[in-house]
Amino acid sequence: MALLKSGVIGGEVTVKGWVRTKRGNKNVAFIALNDGSTIHSIQLVVDVALFAEELLKRISTGVCLRATGRLVASQGSGQSVEIQVRELEIYGMADDYPLQKKGHTLEFLREIAHLRPRTNTFGAVLRIRHAMAYAIHHYFNELGFVCLHTPLITASDAEGAGAMFQVTTLDLQNPPRNERQEIDFTQDFFGRPTCLTVSGQLEGELGALALGEVYTFGPTFRAENSNTPRHLAEFWMIEPEMAFYDITDNMNLAEDFIKYLIRYALDRCADDLQFLNDMYDNGLIERLRGVAQTDFVRLTYTEGIDILLQSGQPFEFPVAWGVDLQSEHERYLVEKHFQKPVILTDYPKEIKAFYMKQNADGKTVRAMDVLFPKIGEIIGGSQREENLEKLQARIAEMGMSDENLWWYLDTRRFGTVEHSGFGLGFERLLLFVTGMANIRDVIPFPRTPNNAEF
Ligand code: 4AD
Ligand code: MG
Repeated sequence: MALLKSGVIGGEVTVKGWVRTKRGNKNVAFIALNDGSTIHSIQLVVDVALFAEELLKRISTGVCLRATGRLVASQGSGQSVEIQVRELEIYGMADDYPLQKKGHTLEFLREIAHLRPRTNTFGAVLRIRHAMAYAIHHYFNELGFVCLHTPLITASDAEGAGAMFQVTTLDLQNPPRNERQEIDFTQDFFGRPTCLTVSGQLEGELGALALGEVYTFGPTFRAENSNTPRHLAEFWMIEPEMAFYDITDNMNLAEDFIKYLIRYALDRCADDLQFLNDMYDNGLIERLRGVAQTDFVRLTYTEGIDILLQSGQPFEFPVAWGVDLQSEHERYLVEKHFQKPVILTDYPKEIKAFYMKQNADGKTVRAMDVLFPKIGEIIGGSQREENLEKLQARIAEMGMSDENLWWYLDTRRFGTVEHSGFGLGFERLLLFVTGMANIRDVIPFPRTPNNAEF
């Protein structure tokens, strides 16, 4: 509601929106109307004598209406302007509306995810989500990156984790079979087994080795059964991929990128952040300012493991060189030990994907994970193995088939060069920026195990 900022006092205005609350007495009614454009509702002041009692009675929380009247400086506290209503038109009633004034838990709101965008909380989160999406495209555009749309349906498993959703048009009750009685995927839509992608990276690399600097920003899908506050089965990922970047260039970009996004939110989403700060997380704005200003710590996985071993902490998952770090370990490093974001590099090759550049020690790869307070891993990336023989050897060593990867390997055959990239989980970023505690509350319609209702 641009009115709230720049409306001409004394002029006639029309507003359309949804009733948040209605209160008053027998002479005057006060209606808080919100149109979704800001966290602030506008106060409608209704002189009861001017309207049919019937009409006013029908107005309740959730009703959609139009009001026309004079914009005046507010008499009451809590708002600067209000509207003295001359005309009211009800568009849509809301009898038995499930959202009442306040007091709904976030858990309850997840059960009515089709209506929760109408709450102040989700209005704020969804506007911030939009602002971040816009800022991401803006950031890369300014740097000259090309936005590359990578496919969602794929025949290759980029991360090699095997947690993919299959895409098929075969009749599951009665699939065609070959002479060995196996399902005959040559008769499937694509003539082969296909899945929803877990990452756009492999195609991103094709783009980088042609256009220099590219990024993808799209949905990705993981069929892992992890019911945690940080995992979704369908999430959005931003994956830049850059030719001629080594891992240090990659870390510099990741740090600059994420700080830019946080500063953008602080500058452009101040009202929504203030609301979330007051409502859910009193340290939110201070934490955002802190991270936007600090230099991230950079250390190797091996150094990180040493710190964890010496910490004397009773971790649920034991620590030893070679283990995959759990979020309790990541958060110890970030929240307790360093008290700032950490970029951990050079992980054991066994716990990382096949495409990462191998270090000379034969044990570690040029991975880089960015670890954040309250979140743990927010970015995962690496320098890529650009050497064909080493890459093929690693694929074989991991027992993977390179049959579906011939096109990827061609980049190493033709004009290969040092390159790097990373993936930022969009909802993990939003967890950090909004201070929400559960990833289901930063995406409009979350997809998690046993949950695809809306
Ligand atoms: O570390 P990941 O698996 O890395 C990749 O997919 C690489 N191909 C990225 C690249 O180098 N281009 O995932 C990257 C990020 C994680 O750091 C995390 O923020 C997010 O994606 N992520 C998830 N977010 C929500 N739900 C899940 N199940 C997620 N899995 C990963
Ligand atoms: Mg990762």
